[in-house]
Amino acid sequence: MNKKIAIAGLGTVGLSLVKKLVEKKEIIQQRSNNSFDIIAVSARSKKSRGVDLSNYEFFDNPVEMVKNTDADIYLELMGGTNGLTLDYVKNVLKKGKVLITANKAMLASYGEQLSELADENNAKILFESSIGGGIPCLKTLREGMVGNNINAIYGILNGTCNYILTTVQETGKSFADVLSEAQKLGYAEADPTFDVEGYDAGQKLSLMASIGFGIKIPYDEMYFEGILDFMTNEQIKSAEKIGYSPRLIGVAKPQSDGYLIYTVPALVPVDKTMGNIKGVVNGCIINGDMVGDIISIGAGAGGDATASAIISDIVDSLKNNYTMTFNTSTKNLKSAKILPITERIGKYCIFGDENILKPKFGDNDIKYLNSVKDVFVIENIKEEKINSVLNGINCNLVRIEDC
Ligand code: HSE
Repeated sequence: MNKKIAIAGLGTVGLSLVKKLVEKKEIIQQRSNNSFDIIAVSARSKKSRGVDLSNYEFFDNPVEMVKNTDADIYLELMGGTNGLTLDYVKNVLKKGKVLITANKAMLASYGEQLSELADENNAKILFESSIGGGIPCLKTLREGMVGNNINAIYGILNGTCNYILTTVQETGKSFADVLSEAQKLGYAEADPTFDVEGYDAGQKLSLMASIGFGIKIPYDEMYFEGILDFMTNEQIKSAEKIGYSPRLIGVAKPQSDGYLIYTVPALVPVDKTMGNIKGVVNGCIINGDMVGDIISIGAGAGGDATASAIISDIVDSLKNNYTMTFNTSTKNLKSAKILPITERIGKYCIFGDENILKPKFGDNDIKYLNSVKDVFVIENIKEEKINSVLNGINCNLVRIEDC
């Protein structure tokens, strides 16, 4: 059965999608064994965008588009968490249609509510493109690893931050200068605070954690830290000398009494997976009890990469191949205890005056590896303890994630 598509949002991603659906129509139809047509688009203004939109009905209000068209698949590529975006999405679901969205911010806040609305109306929500840009993170977790208990998820889930951190390390430029480059390149969110403060990566991680562990979306309870100036350029150079690079890392792990779920700037070994992910690239490591680590790496932002993931959702819909939004019925999602970051037990790098730090370590029976002056690596220590040992001392404590 031919399916009709309506697209709300004609920014970088929306326009890439329209172009690719036109250019690749034949192959997409062959691979889905079905046909489709774009019938309508919606954006704030009808200004020329360098793409021929004349064959599609135009709406300047997406809610009007839902009310006045009979598409099978509605795309939400507008961004925004509330207001018109949420209104549009709810209208799509109430109409019992397929919603395809790249909007991790909206899903992190309203995912369960929207999923219930979808269940009630026999509608569907597909959101592969909302996590990891073009990487099929969700397909890996929800389908490829469906028989596994998930032991851990590690992710580099924000291309802007990864671009900033790797460029600062390679060039010695300031964080602020490299952030404006990332904005010019079109990687950053409309408000780049969402990128650099860790919210965007946290939203993506919270969705993966919910699906992986079968828990309610932990976005409101998880821990975040931003990347701006978390280390000085000099500290980044010292860390490199002992084999570490800075990354914004998301970590989600079940513990005996709850879950540790956080997104923080950290150091990772230069020669392990995350240390080799550079530039706007994203990556995730998902560990399952049957298969061990599954590692996915690829373009984490940008129009065509994101459109690639959206097309995989469109093809699933053309094939009527659906999974439940969070891989289980929404009512089965468990309430989980999210542990404070102070419960983290792991490695840390400390930058500070060794004449002050060494006696402190000695007094507290803390062993360290010290390869560079004024830089210490300690392992297997609870964050609560190291915080109390370093309380009042002028130094920089940076987490190390061995991934
Ligand atoms: N601003 C996001 C990033 C875009 O930099 O990863 C993709 O979600």
